[in-house]
Formats: sequence, structure tokens, C-alpha cells
Amino acid sequence: MNLEILCNEVCDLAREVGSFIRSKRDQLSEEDIETKGVHNYVTFVDKEAERRLTAVLEKLIPEAGFIVEEETIIKKGSRFNWVVDPLDGTTNFIHSIPVFSISIALTEEDEPVLGIIYDVIQDECFYAWKGSQAFMNSKPIRVSDKQLLDESLIATGFPYTGFPKIDEYLFLLKEVLEKSHGIRRLGSAAIDLAYVSCGRLEGFYEYGLNPWDVSAGVIIVKQAGGVISDFSGGTNFITGKEIIASNKGIYKDLSNIIRKYFG
Ligand code: 2AM
Ligand code: CA
Repeated sequence: MNLEILCNEVCDLAREVGSFIRSKRDQLSEEDIETKGVHNYVTFVDKEAERRLTAVLEKLIPEAGFIVEEETIIKKGSRFNWVVDPLDGTTNFIHSIPVFSISIALTEEDEPVLGIIYDVIQDECFYAWKGSQAFMNSKPIRVSDKQLLDESLIATGFPYTGFPKIDEYLFLLKEVLEKSHGIRRLGSAAIDLAYVSCGRLEGFYEYGLNPWDVSAGVIIVKQAGGVISDFSGGTNFITGKEIIASNKGIYKDLSNIIRKYFG
């Protein structure tokens, strides 16, 4: 399997489906928004985008299975699986806030070997495969080389339901606010990870995310020279619902603060 050729094909697919998502922007009515759970919404655009993506991905590797957010296809692969979020940032999309993306990873034995994040509005495709550099629209990208948390811009996501750890989360947020150059809450975890990989952000952390939110970003950040871990410094960041991603320079300081509240 040539991962470079595959990556180019998947980027073209993401651009095509991205243009479908863009065409539906600002066109949603109340009836188009369904509730999947508490504070959890989905639209026909998420589902149709997923159908269009999986129809092509299925042809690219017939034996591969799918782990996809909207479950429009149920197929388990023994060795290879596509891990797909057809629209990451649905809340932004519903509110016409222009920060949402398509996130596609291919895993081999549960390890991401190829990742693509397409920022639908900015027309920016971030990608990397096992052994490659990381790229954005054909240009090589690297994580930031900042060494000080005090000079770093950090992204996170706010919890949206349940709130069992809200106090720890807010104390952590306060300390990161005090010790960093600032915090952003973009609303698409995939875009947060893409921005760490190209140095726009120095770090990102969030809990409660699913494999389709992070799998593509994980390999892109790693191939761009970044560090990824769960909140305890371990490797359970894809299914463990905890992720820290940063450049090498600030990882120790950022992860030490997170561990104080979530270790
Ligand atoms: P989604 O838009 O694909 O659901 C924002 O913090 C991140 O959390 C996004 O990547 C978003 O992905 C994810 N998320 C999962 N469930 C969510 C929900 N109910 N509300 C908002 N964001 C959610
Ligand atoms: Ca989604």
C-alpha cells in the first residue's frame, strides 16, 4: 500500500465533500437539526458527508472497516480501519461560525498510519502518513519552537454535558490562563490539533473526545515533531478520552499542570 498516493486521494475526497458542506452553510433550518443526546446535535449534512466519504474510502481499501461518528456504515476491519468524523465542529456549523473540518484517519492494528484534516472554510488540508513529514496544502509544516509556556497560545474544549469534573477543569483552566500567553476555544478538536502541528498554537488539551475527533490529528502532530499523551503522560489518548498535544518545548510544563488536577 502506497500511503503517499492514498493520502493524496483522500485529500482530494475531503476537498470534494468539503465543498458539499460549504454549499450547505447558512442554509440550515430548525427542522434540519436533530438531537443525538444532551447538548449533542447532528444534521443531514453530517450524515450525507459521511455517506459520500465512506462510499469512496470503501473502494480505496475494500478490506478496511469503519469507525465513523454517524454510523452510516457498520463494518469492522480486522487489520485496517478508517476512522472518520465527517463534520468536526457541528455546533459551529449550526451557528454559522466558520470553524469546522473533516477528519479522516486510517489505522493499522489500531495505530494511525495516515491522517487528514480538511478545514472546510479556510480550504486548508493538513496531512501526514507513517514515515512522512507533515504538510498543509503541499507545504511542509512543523510544530512551534517556543520553549516557554508564558509565550504560548493554548487551545482547549469546554465540557458540554454531564459536568462530573467541572471544578477540576475550571481550576486547571485558571492556572493555564495565568501561566500562558492565552487560551482559545475553537470548537473543532481536529482543527486544534492541525493548528498545533503547524505552529499556530503551542498546545491543546481536552477530555471527553472520541477516536474520530483525534485519530487524524494524532499522526499529523507526531509527524510534525510534536508530542501527544493522555493526561497521565501515557499512550491512551485515542480511546481514553483525554489528550494533550504540544510542541516539545512546553510539553513538560503544560502536562505537569494538567496532572495536578487530573493525574
Ligand atoms: P463534533 O462537532 O464532531 O461533535 C469541541 O470541544 C469538540 O468536541 C469537537 O471536536 C466536537 O466534535 C466534540 N464534541 C463531541 N460531542 C460534542 C457535543 N455534544 N457538543 C459539542 N462538541 C462536541
Ligand atoms: Ca462530528
